Amino acid sequence: MLTVEGLRSRYGRIEVLHGIDLHVDSGEIVTVVGANGAGKTTLLRCLSGVQPVSGGSITFRGEVLTPVPAYKRLRRGLAQSPEGRQIFTNLTVEENLRLGAFLFSDDRVDRDMEDAFQMFPILKEKRNLAAGGLSGGQQQMLAMARALMGRPSCLLLDEPSMGLAPIIVQQIFDVVKGLKALNVTVLLVEQNAFGALKIADRGYVMETGHITMEGTAAELIADPRIREAYLGI
Ligand SMILES: Nc1ncnc2c1ncn2[C@@H]1O[C@H](COP(=O)(O)OP(=O)(O)OP(=O)(O)O)[C@@H](O)[C@H]1O
Ligand SMILES: [Mg+2]
Repeated sequence: MLTVEGLRSRYGRIEVLHGIDLHVDSGEIVTVVGANGAGKTTLLRCLSGVQPVSGGSITFRGEVLTPVPAYKRLRRGLAQSPEGRQIFTNLTVEENLRLGAFLFSDDRVDRDMEDAFQMFPILKEKRNLAAGGLSGGQQQMLAMARALMGRPSCLLLDEPSMGLAPIIVQQIFDVVKGLKALNVTVLLVEQNAFGALKIADRGYVMETGHITMEGTAAELIADPRIREAYLGI
């Protein structure tokens, strides 16, 4: 579904992605784990088109995406739930969700919203409240639900567990796992390697702009280097 080959990206003269190769097959949950500053967000921003690429290619559902502008990538089926949630704090929960569906004007938007409320019932309770008043976990739910309102075939998730209490993290990861049943393919970027690998099919380890390891989630969880460096086991 998604293939990244030799991807390079830079901020000014400083290159931070030095040739990334990875792929995500349809129906998979794939995670990219790595420490602070490894380049995970830069990678996702290249995929959604808001960060310039200086080399390599991105192919999505058979089409080379690299020249496609960001605003057209959602229409192609690629949506991002960004780092730091980036919800519109002065708008209500419902208004945030409707913005995620800006491409559509059909009746399905209301049904999609009901699906989002089923996924995250707390958002239904708060649908008419300003999103800025939500807790961190609720804002994360809103960011994911908003991205899903764009009806993506592939969802890019940037650190959904960041800063959240363990019980909320578990809830979020359970929802991510459930996206499989909805035919949404997931590329999940996380510092929380253990949590991410537990729900993923495959994973990649990113270190300072390089992919240094890859394998099935089970292989990576069992690998002594991963256990020591990322799982603290
Ligand atoms: N706007 C920017 N201008 C210059 N350098 C940047 C910018 N954003 C990120 N960088 C640098 O690029 C590198 C990769 O950063 P990136 O945010 O992609 O990492 P990350 O893996 O997402 O980290 P984290 O887990 O902390 O979110 C880091 O060295 C960072 O300092
Ligand atoms: Mg990041």
